[in-house]
Amino acid sequence: MNVHDEEFHKILDDGDELSKFRERFEIPKLYCVYFCGHSLGLQPKSTESHVQQVLQSWKQNANQCRYVTSLPLVYCDNQAKKGLSELVGCYESEVVAMNSLTTNLHLLMTSFYQPTKYRYKILIEQNAFPSDYYVVASQIRLAGYDEDESLILVKPRQVSLACLLHLIEKEGDSIALILLPGVYFITGQAFDMKAITEAGHKKGCYVGYDLAHAVGNIELHLHEWGVDFACWCTYKYLNSGPGGIGAAFLHRRFDNTKMNKLLGWWGHKESTRFEMTSDFDFAPGIDSYRLSNPPALLVVCFIASLNEFLEAGGRRLREKRFLLTGYLEYLLKHHFSEPSNTSKVTVDIVTPLKFAERGCQLSIRFSCPVHQVAEELRKRGMIFDIRKPDVMRLTPVPLYNRFYDVYRFVDTLRSVLKHNIYSVFSAIKIFYE
Ligand SMILES: Cc1ncc(COP(=O)(O)O)c(C=O)c1O
Repeated sequence: MNVHDEEFHKILDDGDELSKFRERFEIPKLYCVYFCGHSLGLQPKSTESHVQQVLQSWKQNANQCRYVTSLPLVYCDNQAKKGLSELVGCYESEVVAMNSLTTNLHLLMTSFYQPTKYRYKILIEQNAFPSDYYVVASQIRLAGYDEDESLILVKPRQVSLACLLHLIEKEGDSIALILLPGVYFITGQAFDMKAITEAGHKKGCYVGYDLAHAVGNIELHLHEWGVDFACWCTYKYLNSGPGGIGAAFLHRRFDNTKMNKLLGWWGHKESTRFEMTSDFDFAPGIDSYRLSNPPALLVVCFIASLNEFLEAGGRRLREKRFLLTGYLEYLLKHHFSEPSNTSKVTVDIVTPLKFAERGCQLSIRFSCPVHQVAEELRKRGMIFDIRKPDVMRLTPVPLYNRFYDVYRFVDTLRSVLKHNIYSVFSAIKIFYE
């Protein structure tokens, strides 16, 4: 049997040790294939009972819900530390669930962007996620510097690691902060964080990462790589629900009491916090960046999903990712790399093809306008998204997607390109020619 044979997905699904996890997620009935986990993960079935537990405790215990039961709500964020530390590869004291991604980025940049006359630049990717760009630009302005003079923009994908390292070597003396994504949201390219961090540090720059598209997706060793700080959201691959709690990492070599930072009462040492004095006694490490008491409903939604991750295990998830995304890559190349009798439209995979340079997302471009294809696919229950101007993002997620989903998506795409788009596309071509 060949990989492109109709029955091949069955062999893969039958051999999938993680197949039982799909049953633990709410799969919307309206959708045939959900490939949008890079945007919003599916709801774990256990989320509802976690939320109910909080509501019940509040109902029954009122103010005491903060302190009683197996989950004292006032300390609930501490219960996410173990899982978070496993996901990003660090000590529990280096990671915390708090706020949102953008807020955490501001909080940490307040410490890590300390421009001086000669070292004031920030290196980020071109076409960065808008919120990251706004954070960086506004921090530059707040520090009294000029955004145009202070930003160095690198093109992900077009710039190889070697070029990026060369740029850091060349410009590093003027760079205060390198802030890059772990995985670039448009192309799905994974950056070599270890190499970039080393190169940045050699030149005296701080190095931080936005891990929105990396966490729960690729292997991370933030502590070992010596990353200074990182922030992420948990509603994509970590399935914590829309607007779910964010999280942040700070390497433990930093003395948090000496850093420029914004303070709130929850960053105060836990043991003396309720003495309620105006003397600030720093909680250790990243915990001192907490501002407010934790939003219990959001935290427990996250914990529900974290439990699934920990049970599935990083190694098994990576192995399945390798096969699942590899299967999608193979079928796309097999059917659409060249014009054929069944499709004149071709597909180009924008995402790097090496396993180490990507996560589970594949971004593709069509040789015809993407919106025509997208509309027809959506009519057939395929869920994915588009990033302007012409990229379609497809993400088979190892925790809940099947090999059958990959097969079904590509099969639907074949029929769409055969029956609909080709005729429209060729009519447009004929009209213009
Ligand atoms: C790469 C990246 N950065 C930042 C954000 C903003 O996240 P939030 O709204 O949780 O602050 C997102 C949201 O999707 C994102 O994908």
